[in-house]
Amino acid sequence: MKSLLTALLFLVLAANARLGLVMSFTVIMSDSGTPSSLVDGPQSGLPTSNNGAQTDAREQEAVYDIMRATGNDWATDIPDVCRGRWHGIECMPDKDNVFHVVSLSFGALSDDTAFPTCDLARSSISPSITKLPHLRTLFFYRCFTNNPQPIPSFLGQLGSSLQSLVLRENGHIGAIPYELGNLTRLTVLDLHRNNLNGSIPVSLGMITGLRSLDLSSNRLSGSIPNISFPALSVLNLNQNHLTGLLPTTLFTSNSLIKIDLSRNRISGPIPNLTNLEDLILLDISYNTLAGPLPQSLQGLESLQALILNGNPSMSTTIPETTFVGLNNLTILGLSNMNLEGPIPESLGRVRTLRVLHLDGNRFNDTIPPSFANLDSLSELRLENNRLTGPIPFKRERVWRMGRKLRLNNNSGLCYDAKSGLGDDLDTLSSAGIGHCGTTNVGGGVSVQHIATNGDGDHKLKYSSTKSEAASLAKRGSISRKMIELILIFLFVLILF
Ligand SMILES: *[C@@H]1O[C@H](CO)[C@@H](O)[C@H](O)[C@H]1NC(C)=O
Ligand SMILES: *[C@@H]1O[C@H](CO)[C@@H](O)[C@H](O)[C@H]1NC(C)=O
Ligand SMILES: *[C@@H]1O[C@H](CO)[C@@H](O)[C@H](O)[C@H]1NC(C)=O
Ligand SMILES: *[C@@H]1O[C@H](CO)[C@@H](O)[C@H](O)[C@H]1NC(C)=O
Ligand SMILES: *[C@@H]1O[C@H](CO)[C@@H](O)[C@H](O)[C@H]1NC(C)=O
Ligand SMILES: *[C@@H]1O[C@H](CO)[C@@H](O)[C@H](O)[C@H]1NC(C)=O
Ligand SMILES: *[C@@H]1O[C@H](CO)[C@@H](O)[C@H](O)[C@H]1NC(C)=O
Repeated sequence: MKSLLTALLFLVLAANARLGLVMSFTVIMSDSGTPSSLVDGPQSGLPTSNNGAQTDAREQEAVYDIMRATGNDWATDIPDVCRGRWHGIECMPDKDNVFHVVSLSFGALSDDTAFPTCDLARSSISPSITKLPHLRTLFFYRCFTNNPQPIPSFLGQLGSSLQSLVLRENGHIGAIPYELGNLTRLTVLDLHRNNLNGSIPVSLGMITGLRSLDLSSNRLSGSIPNISFPALSVLNLNQNHLTGLLPTTLFTSNSLIKIDLSRNRISGPIPNLTNLEDLILLDISYNTLAGPLPQSLQGLESLQALILNGNPSMSTTIPETTFVGLNNLTILGLSNMNLEGPIPESLGRVRTLRVLHLDGNRFNDTIPPSFANLDSLSELRLENNRLTGPIPFKRERVWRMGRKLRLNNNSGLCYDAKSGLGDDLDTLSSAGIGHCGTTNVGGGVSVQHIATNGDGDHKLKYSSTKSEAASLAKRGSISRKMIELILIFLFVLILF
């Protein structure tokens, strides 16, 4: 059991590594609900304890069948499978000292969790598995990839005992069997990275104790059924072809810690999130969700990562109050959402922010001066917007963020020389950002643009008077011509 736990933890951590998150949630290998006939935890495999115990004869034959079906014929030479154990089988004695198989695992996860590997070309899951009435954990990892097959519906017959079903990266095809809904004791259902299609069966709603549901990286289609899992902590449906609305019921479970529905085709609004008090990660990026941003984000005190990138139909302005109270937010992704208007000043009060992506929107106005207070910020993307005015960071900060500060393709960003910034900083020169009060090269528009186009008085302070601004405008157009000439010259130079 311990090695399996390590294995699952390894997988979960690996999956989260791409987010750069240190997620502290646990997976959830419950031993509660122990079938009453068994005495205690899985045995260590030393034949000294339970000396007289023997494996149940029917189960022993079933294990031989299962091992043969995966190309592990060697196991049939083992006279008592629970006593001559290998990594990947766990047994427990009952009160009559008969061993029962409680866990079977297959697939090479890492060097220190070497479960029996499968013969990729001809492996299958033997129906004899239904003759293991005490089986709590079934784990197949990369087992049937060269012999694509559906998930067998007979697994549904393990309902009285099975608590954890993991069929990861096995190349399974076809639909998720409706019968899996009969596995009502499951706490973990993990079908990650197969080729499963069809829709998510409504029958899964019968698994009321489910704590982790991972159906990510498949080809599931249709809408997410309106089912609720009152004990669910981890929901991962990313990288499928799911459509329709986000079901409100899914978001009612206040045990949820992680929700990843990214890279689907889900539409409509984001439902009320108020109940998700323990939520750490919400990723619904790369869908077609519509605005506005949920006001119910407020008070999600545990939330550490909110990733909404790539929902181009959001097209909304962000109210100042949206991110208030997110006291633990470290990652916020709002790229490519067609957001418009000003960036909320209050975002600068989310002091825990480390990664902030606001690129590819239509944000106008200035970078909020409050951003200067974001002491933990190490990555800030503001490129491809319509921002104007001075960059509110000190030299040291700009230098430290380096290429993780992206400012290019805005309308008129500039730096205030008094802040110590200068175009000797790569970040600024490569984005073509100039001194406030001179021409802004890369943005293509001079700072004067701010003074005349912005009706807000506060914008004028960036260039002291309107007349100064006007003269700057003239100079601006002159130097723009010069730059064009220089560019042509460079181009010719490169040609030769
Ligand atoms: C679930 O199990 C019951 C008996 O326990 C059986 O009658 C029913 O057909 C099963 N349903 C599915 C979907 O397998
Ligand atoms: C699912 O895939 C199988 C083959 O892998 C195919 O026969 C079936 O039509 C597909 N079903 C759907 C709903 O796409
Ligand atoms: C889901 O069910 C809840 C209550 O059971 C209902 O309020 C809601 O409208 C349903 N949502 C969808 C998308 O069917
Ligand atoms: C969200 O639901 C809570 C109660 O569950 C309610 O008090 C709140 O007004 C709702 N928020 C929105 C924005 O609908
Ligand atoms: C969130 O931040 C608050 C302080 O603002 C802290 O008391 C709380 O424990 C944090 N919650 C989590 C889950 O980190
Ligand atoms: C900024 O965008 C908003 C919404 O698109 C618009 O109403 C406003 O006039 C724009 N402000 C400036 C200074 O361009
Ligand atoms: C600049 O940003 C806008 C979005 O604000 C985008 O449409 C445009 O393609 C970008 N231009 C370049 C050269 O990347």
